Amino acid sequence: MRLLLIAGLLCTMAAPPALARAIPDPNQKHAPGNEAPQKAIAQAGYSTPVNYQLQCAGCHLGDGTGSKANDTPKMKGFVGNFLKVDGGREFLVRVPGMSQSALNDAQLADLLNWLMRKDGMAGNSVPDDYKPYTEAEVASIRKVSLLNLPETRAGLIRAMREQGIEIDDGMDNAY
Ligand code: HEC
Repeated sequence: MRLLLIAGLLCTMAAPPALARAIPDPNQKHAPGNEAPQKAIAQAGYSTPVNYQLQCAGCHLGDGTGSKANDTPKMKGFVGNFLKVDGGREFLVRVPGMSQSALNDAQLADLLNWLMRKDGMAGNSVPDDYKPYTEAEVASIRKVSLLNLPETRAGLIRAMREQGIEIDDGMDNAY
């Protein structure tokens, strides 16, 4: 018993230096080969699918299924329908996930054009006369804030309904 107590005491006394070792050394150098400071994503030169994974997939999921539980609509097979109604083209740039992202205008244009591929996320929802977004277009649309997002989105969904488009955005909203 006494031995156990002494052992316990010794452990307690040894603990502070052990803890101190866990504090980072302010003079520590980068690991060899890892010296360059991290680049901002807009300068990193990642491909468009990688930008999507890093900036969007956390909410929209890798394949654009979204998540009703997190209020994130489904883009897969649906998002192209926004281009069929007035104001939809601008809406897609102004949603906060896009306009407030750390990506630059050219990257956002590439990302939208990538989403709108017939063999991509939007699939058959893309209108046949789709005109790719350009960097200049994204720059000018992005500057204007989207006020009252829920109402704007609901109006666009209503306009789609009036055109007979099936609302498959995963949200079960009865607009
Ligand atoms: C923090 C979660 C989150 C992130 C990150 C995010 N989004 Fe979104 N996105 C949403 C939600 C929620 C909506 C529905 C509209 C709203 O409430 O903003 C949405 C709407 C959209 C829409 C319009 C489609 C619709 O049905 O309303 C597009 C297009 C879109 N996001 C693209 C992107 C892209 C591309 C990125 C990455 C650059 C991105 N989002 C990042 C949550 C996110």
